[in-house]
Amino acid sequence: MAARAVRKIGDPVLRRQAAPLDLDVVRSAEFSRLAEDMVETMHVEGGIGIAAPQIGESLRVAVIAIDPASSRYPDMARFPLTLFVNPRITVLDPAEQGFWEGCLSVPNLRGYVLRPRGVRVDFMDAAGTPRSLHAEGFLATVLQHELDHLDGVLFVDRVRDTTKLATVENYARYWAVNASPPTDI
Ligand code: NI
Repeated sequence: MAARAVRKIGDPVLRRQAAPLDLDVVRSAEFSRLAEDMVETMHVEGGIGIAAPQIGESLRVAVIAIDPASSRYPDMARFPLTLFVNPRITVLDPAEQGFWEGCLSVPNLRGYVLRPRGVRVDFMDAAGTPRSLHAEGFLATVLQHELDHLDGVLFVDRVRDTTKLATVENYARYWAVNASPPTDI
């Protein structure tokens, strides 16, 4: 497995509607390699999530892994490494919550994004088994951010108040008064 180059904003692959995967593809060695490359790239880049279009593959698959032990932000809830294939999101609680987000594909930028605070995600895991997950709080935001990538949407599209866009340096200097998401999603 190998880390791959992360595609950056302006690359058309980040703006495409990604294609769903058939079960036989999910069970192929080629797909396993893609999944390993995504995980490796996410770790090398220091992200807590990555979607296939971010390494140039326009496919509906994303990975999330949150490990507070290896993070500067131990208050974050742990979330084990999970592969989401063909995920579908349903809003369970439409009340909005805001977090500062960043993205491996949008270098040196943070933005304040409001999203529904409770969601359910139906997906296939790495073995092709159907699974369902309920998420609230920051994890709900991370899931929505990742799944947006599969529809060609970046977090900057979701920033309603563009005065709440900041470089990483200025985010730390002016905005980081409360604990906020640390790393790129
Ligand atoms: Ni992202």
